[in-house]
Amino acid sequence: MADSSILVCGGCGFIGSNFVRVLAEQRPQARITVADALSYAGYTDNLGDLLDNRRVVFFLRNIAEYEGMREVFHNSYDLVINFAAETHVDRSLYNTSSFVRANVVGVDVLLALCREFNVPFLQISTDEVYGPAGEKDCFTEEAQLKPSSPYAASKAAADLLVQSAIRTFGQDVAIVRTTNNYGPRQFPEKLIPYFIHLLQQGQPLPVYGDGLQKRCWLHVEDFCSALLKLIADFPSREIFNIGATSEYTNLEVIESLIRLTGGRSPVNHVADRPAHDRRYWIDSSKFIARYGALTQRDLRSGLESTVKWYLDNPRIFERLGGNEAQSFEQSHYHHQ
Ligand code: DAU
Repeated sequence: MADSSILVCGGCGFIGSNFVRVLAEQRPQARITVADALSYAGYTDNLGDLLDNRRVVFFLRNIAEYEGMREVFHNSYDLVINFAAETHVDRSLYNTSSFVRANVVGVDVLLALCREFNVPFLQISTDEVYGPAGEKDCFTEEAQLKPSSPYAASKAAADLLVQSAIRTFGQDVAIVRTTNNYGPRQFPEKLIPYFIHLLQQGQPLPVYGDGLQKRCWLHVEDFCSALLKLIADFPSREIFNIGATSEYTNLEVIESLIRLTGGRSPVNHVADRPAHDRRYWIDSSKFIARYGALTQRDLRSGLESTVKWYLDNPRIFERLGGNEAQSFEQSHYHHQ
């Protein structure tokens, strides 16, 4: 593992870039290649100076394009990890096909190439594939997949493709499903960075429905550290949940953001997201039994450092000014 060659797909996005940073820091001998389409949510800046100082080799590639990705596979790798995805639930309400292309076709291409070049493959998935959890539910890796949104359905479809590659080809693949990640460099369309931005601007906070939906928040660096443990002992043909146990309602998170930013924006309850999952709850005991405790900073300290990071790096909010981000924000929030 120490001097492995790892291809990180989607390494310029939120979780992907945090993973590359943690990997580069904690595995100085590892050889890291990033392939990223640099869509509206991917930025080479997220990698800091890792590209300039040639610590990371970069390919501008879309995982859904077989020929282009095939060229990348001519370098040899010990592992391919896929973070590349369309991830924003609200966007998936408007443009389902871009989700199918990135999240389903893209994973199909990566699976085919990993078979062709005989490389193990790790797919990063989400707790949303299980659908909403009731107060007594606790989804293990065996639970049925019942996705609610087009986003979640496309991730579930990818998971099924990976599982079929195990059964059909005996392929050396694994899946990790995680809960809501937060931390530095998240595209500011997601709840935490978007609301920090609105609070700075003094604009109203659009809370969907009653705001009592619950999410389990995992700091992205804690998730990435867990992934490092997992790839050091690659769990071929297995699925692992890696989820936070710190569960908060959206209103609780928003109250903390108001307090930490000192912002004075009004809370504005708007129409709920269609098919909005009230709660997720996944059981990570399989991961803990095999890899040890899951380090989780508590949300209080995690949010404090996260808010500080966004306040210290206000340029990230300029990304909301891009054409694609602007037209989404305009049509989604201003025509409710
Ligand atoms: O659970 C894992 C998932 O977490 C990932 O698979 C997704 O890629 C990721 O986007 C995230 O999904 P959520 O829908 O939970 O994240 P989001 O930040 O969009 O919303 C968090 C909660 O806040 C959710 O209940 C919806 C609510 N919300 C969000 C926005 C952007 C609002 O009330 N108003 C908003 O404007």
